[in-house]
Amino acid sequence: MWDDGDMHATHSPTYPSREAVVPPRAWQYEAIRRIEADFQRSSDTHLIPLPTPGLPGVDLYLKDESSHPTGSLKHRLARSLFLHALCNGWLHESSTVVEASSGSTAISEAYFARLLGLPFCAVMPRSTSPDKVAAIEFAGGQCHLVEHAADIYQAAADLAAQRGGHYMDQFTYAERATDWRANNNIAESIYHQLEREPHPCPRWIVASAGTGGTLATIGRFVRYRRYATQVCGVDAERSVFFDHYTSGNAALTCAQGSRIEGIGRPRVEASFVPGVLDAMVQVRDVWSIAAARALAEVLGRPVGGSTGTNLMAALHCARQMVQRGETGSIVTLLCDSGERYRHSYYNDDWLAQQGLACHEPQHAVQHMLHSGSWPEMATPQSVERTEVFVWGRSAGI
Ligand SMILES: Cc1ncc(COP(=O)(O)O)c(C=O)c1O
Repeated sequence: MWDDGDMHATHSPTYPSREAVVPPRAWQYEAIRRIEADFQRSSDTHLIPLPTPGLPGVDLYLKDESSHPTGSLKHRLARSLFLHALCNGWLHESSTVVEASSGSTAISEAYFARLLGLPFCAVMPRSTSPDKVAAIEFAGGQCHLVEHAADIYQAAADLAAQRGGHYMDQFTYAERATDWRANNNIAESIYHQLEREPHPCPRWIVASAGTGGTLATIGRFVRYRRYATQVCGVDAERSVFFDHYTSGNAALTCAQGSRIEGIGRPRVEASFVPGVLDAMVQVRDVWSIAAARALAEVLGRPVGGSTGTNLMAALHCARQMVQRGETGSIVTLLCDSGERYRHSYYNDDWLAQQGLACHEPQHAVQHMLHSGSWPEMATPQSVERTEVFVWGRSAGI
């Protein structure tokens, strides 16, 4: 029977003290505390305005994710994946953490594994930048290199099984590990940083897909808040995301691995959510690298290849806005620094060996940034729902 006295006693809610519930989960709770304390000590990444004199009325911004402690936007994902795994009870004091990666995620996960005192092993394609391998080893991780990009998933699952460890599996869990409604995710941070700008609600947010997790977070946040922003996904040349977006075929595969490190996949990843996108662009690799190098000239520091891919798509959105007489802002991501790619995208001999010499496209991007038009380029062709350009393809813009 209810008793009035008890009703009074329970009127103000009382929660169990943390100490009372800690003992059976002591290691997990301490691990979560360490990650949260690390976050508390960190600052947000910058939103940098990019001067584009040739695109009047369009304000272009770069969310500079290279300034995270582990140098890329994957710092956010790694933190989310560790917290997700810890709260699910998937990580223990003696777990070896294993991940399939093209490098950036592995660097960030190596950082968090070291923070928790866990062994870490990255499974990556042999073509991965040596600087990334060095960064993982510097953080105490091991690298297991496989010949083909498509083999990393099974090799990582096998390695985790052999060592009795945990396969983090970013390609499956990226889209659900991040809090997409808010909690200072990348999208909330962008909108907060734009608050005092002339166009605080961006017309476009443009981002490339590796797992697809960043796009899923941004897209869901935009829909949830019902913003008048359109979300544009970007794909690399050797990848299936763009064709999946236009065809709906989830069984597509691609034999060759992507040459733009961090983005482009040989299979449709579970974390890629096409329904959140309004448009998609696919950029030829030579143009991604050209755009990265052109941007490096403007910023006075090198940026990674996927930032060039993003810039090409953002310039495409901007050009469409100018042609339609629209004004507004566009945000895209500076995913990582070009210091990791000195031996490749910033090395003319390497580019020539790969058939990616890009002086003319680089000049064309510089021209675009200054004048707002592509120099002497063939007119685009329309193929069903897709527009084909010299630099790539677009659907939905
Ligand atoms: C350098 C770089 N850019 C972009 C991305 C794409 O991010 P997401 O995996 O969230 O799609 C990645 C992913 O690994 C990356 O490493």
